[in-house]
Amino acid sequence: MRILVIGPGGREHAIVKALARDPEVTEIHAAPGNPGIATLAKCHPVDACDGPAVAALATELGVDLVVVGPEAPLIAGVADAVRTAGIACFGPTQAAAQIEGSKTFAKNVMASAGIPTAQSRTCTTAAEVRAALTEFGAPYVVKDDGLAAGKGVLVTGDLDAALAHAAGCQRVVIEEFLSGPEFSAFALCDGTRSVLLALARDYKRVGDGDTGPNTGGMGAYSPVPWLPAGIEEQLSGAVVEPLLAELARRGTPFAGVLFPGLILTEDGVKIIEYNARFGDPETQVVLERLETPLGGLLMACATGTLKPDTELAWSPDTVVNVVVASDGYPDNPVTGDEITGLADAAAVEGVDVLHAGTAHGPDGNLVAAGGRILSVLARGADPAQARARAYEGLGHVVLRGQVARTDIAADLT
Ligand code: AMP
Ligand code: GLY
Repeated sequence: MRILVIGPGGREHAIVKALARDPEVTEIHAAPGNPGIATLAKCHPVDACDGPAVAALATELGVDLVVVGPEAPLIAGVADAVRTAGIACFGPTQAAAQIEGSKTFAKNVMASAGIPTAQSRTCTTAAEVRAALTEFGAPYVVKDDGLAAGKGVLVTGDLDAALAHAAGCQRVVIEEFLSGPEFSAFALCDGTRSVLLALARDYKRVGDGDTGPNTGGMGAYSPVPWLPAGIEEQLSGAVVEPLLAELARRGTPFAGVLFPGLILTEDGVKIIEYNARFGDPETQVVLERLETPLGGLLMACATGTLKPDTELAWSPDTVVNVVVASDGYPDNPVTGDEITGLADAAAVEGVDVLHAGTAHGPDGNLVAAGGRILSVLARGADPAQARARAYEGLGHVVLRGQVARTDIAADLT
């Protein structure tokens, strides 16, 4: 099987790494990829969001399957362009990706399907915003209705800050505040059937102790031992299958990975949001534990042939990753600084380094090229070992002003 993976980040590096150990996968291409992905796949300088260009590249390469990683190309319709060219694609259509692209659409679908989530109001005027904030009370949850890479959400006790955030969005969703620990689930879907992957926890805030602004994610671990037994079956029945059925009923079946962001409240599990793609950095820890070959699974989803009751094999190891972001992340990340020490980090037992925002500088050296730069991924026989290895690896990474949390997986040990 020849596969083209679309996207530039840590999630795509993790996908490519898992595909590279699938014996059925004979050739891996990526667009645009990054220097880490380039060690495992042939990278092509094609814009991930340009559907015709991606379809043309896939045709030229003669690949059997295209895997679209990030949300922006999905919402731009890249999967549609690939399918129109007659090539199998793992990733939802533009219409189905609205489950992530529009919070209002997602809330409507959840209401129709009876899926548990926070109560919410969609507002377009300052008066509506003020009324909704008053109705739900503090802490205030204010969400930009459109796509904002995990950074369009403000949770605050400060009414003025809530009003100011809302004023910066065209259409805004105000929600009831939900309280409890959060976790992430991924379901591989073929339009009607699904299989749930191992669960993960991600750390959204930039600072230790969950302080500071929200980010794309600063670290993760899998499995999540503090969740109640039987949670997987509960999730499939309550938040995956009803959503797939509702999207299919609306004529926009979902084929790709459905990523519910979940919260364990006193009233049970509720949806914070649905995403239409693998989460990053959670994918890195989940795919590291997956022993079932990934290529065939993604192909089955792309072609509507996922077997009912598919069973997956998982490593019992704990996997932890710690993200290294650049100075100033998430507001004003500094780019261009040199990164060193990665070989020493990867030499730590059980450790690998996955690239996100890296690039080759003018001298061929590795430089920071984004907000989140890389992550140090570590396996261990138990959470303490995985965490210790991740931080030992991190200790070798050198990037001026680097931002990394020191408390990833500390809650497990
Ligand atoms: P989202 O981009 O919707 O995943 O939101 C980002 C983060 O904001 C979530 O991971 C939560 O920590 C927080 N958040 C979003 N919605 C709520 C809510 N209704 N109640 C409490 N926290 C929330
Ligand atoms: N880590 C959360 C996300 O990918 O949205």
